[in-house]
Amino acid sequence: MTNIVLPNETNSLRNLFGGELLAKMDRCASISAVRHSERRAVTASVNHVSFNHPIPEAGIVVLESKVSRVFSTSMEIYVDVWLDDPIAGTKIHTNEGIYTFVAVDEFNKPVPIPQMIPETDLEKERYAAAFRRKELSLILSGRMKPQDSVELKKLFVQTDL
Ligand SMILES: CC(C)(COP(=O)(O)OP(=O)(O)OC[C@H]1O[C@@H](n2cnc3c(N)ncnc32)[C@H](O)[C@@H]1OP(=O)(O)O)[C@@H](O)C(=O)NCCC(=O)NCCS
Repeated sequence: MTNIVLPNETNSLRNLFGGELLAKMDRCASISAVRHSERRAVTASVNHVSFNHPIPEAGIVVLESKVSRVFSTSMEIYVDVWLDDPIAGTKIHTNEGIYTFVAVDEFNKPVPIPQMIPETDLEKERYAAAFRRKELSLILSGRMKPQDSVELKKLFVQTDL
């Protein structure tokens, strides 16, 4: 998705307001979620967003989202954001967001999603780490007890007593 930053989307420093960027990222991720699952899909959690570089008014923002792992009814989606400056000939990676979407039926009930196979090194790296992130998200949202986790148990539960 490519956008240009308009004045009404900026903060007092005349850079893109964080909430505006989050909305764009959510929108972009939701398109990947629907395209992959061929179902309606809802945002279940925003697991991480980094704001590494300001995006100024009139800047050209490029968002790219990809499904990084499918679990059963949920999928992790990575959104990468760049500031594209065709005049200077630069493209700066400004943000990254990690979202969880759930595919739902017409009664908003979660439904299974077709699997995906990571191919590039980056896709494989993101796929491998997604399980840890899912466990962390479930623990932080109170949906999983730390002692029930597979990969994160040792971080949360003291076992040497
Ligand atoms: C997301 C939603 C559909 C999940 O429904 P639910 O009845 O709780 O379903 P489940 O407990 O079976 O969870 C479904 C999947 O989501 C995952 N999930 C739910 N909450 C999660 C979270 N915070 N982080 C990561 N995964 C989560 C579950 O682990 C499960 O994944 P899996 O089937 O791949 O293993 C439901 O909570 C909902 O509709 N939320 C509102 C969504 C919304 O309106 N979003 C727009 C933003 S306002």
